[in-house]
Amino acid sequence: MIKLGSDNIRMREYIYSLLDLSNAKAILDIGCGYGYDLWRIGQIVGDNTRLVGIDVSSKAIEHAISDTKDDSRYSFSVVDLSSGLPFERETFDIVFSNNFLECITDKDSLVKEIHRVLRQNGQVVFAHFDWDSQLINGSDKTTIQKIVQTFNNWKQDWMADCDAWMGRRLWGIFNRSGLFKGNIYTYVLTNTEFTPECYGYCRIKDMEALIRHGMIQKEEYERFYKDIKELADKGEYFYSITMYIYVGRKVRFDKERETL
Ligand SMILES: C[S@@+](CC[C@H](N)C(=O)[O-])C[C@H]1O[C@@H](n2cnc3c(N)ncnc32)[C@H](O)[C@@H]1O
Repeated sequence: MIKLGSDNIRMREYIYSLLDLSNAKAILDIGCGYGYDLWRIGQIVGDNTRLVGIDVSSKAIEHAISDTKDDSRYSFSVVDLSSGLPFERETFDIVFSNNFLECITDKDSLVKEIHRVLRQNGQVVFAHFDWDSQLINGSDKTTIQKIVQTFNNWKQDWMADCDAWMGRRLWGIFNRSGLFKGNIYTYVLTNTEFTPECYGYCRIKDMEALIRHGMIQKEEYERFYKDIKELADKGEYFYSITMYIYVGRKVRFDKERETL
């Protein structure tokens, strides 16, 4: 299974603590990537739970299959979620997702699909960073703001859409559907160490790719990195990002609303 830093693992464990795993016979993870979340949920949940992961990336799905091949509870498949969910109605007790929703354009149709495949009183747990909540301390505010915002708004090739405000929009997307009753939970991931196992360090390194894509100058990134490193050497490094988690229950069964 992919290796994650302890800060990232702690955040994910918080998200799993919001799942109602009592009597969950089937769990779906949409945009499951390499399958870490489902793999870990499978360690917490009982032996009779079916764990289904879908993602558009065949490379990610191959990894997920290989990492869980000895456990028959798991099934992973390649699915493009922009064309709905390939499951019968009322198949799952929980539909879970982590940092996926911003990638697709028609979010409202997907919410209807989640409602369709959930059993009565089923639970939806959708986690998403609000990328614009990403904070980095430094002295060159203008350069930090520019690079972080450029990164947050970067629609990468594998994304049909991107939205740096996805975290703050989760509530509205689910609430306006009228199909769920729920709440928003938050988790602030905080780093004070500038080291490779920390989430913030990895994102700051990722931002270097903006040079290759012609979105920032090499000299700007070098200035940005040097500023952060100097602060870190003085013990003043600080990074944080907020994860928003919508946790809701399917509240009604309405055939008309389920027509896409
Ligand atoms: C940021 S990753 C999150 C992966 C995983 N949920 C996690 O938290 O580690 C977003 C995932 O969404 C998937 N994705 C993007 N667009 C998709 C689509 N149209 N259909 C299915 N999956 C998609 C990507 O392949 C990627 O694995």
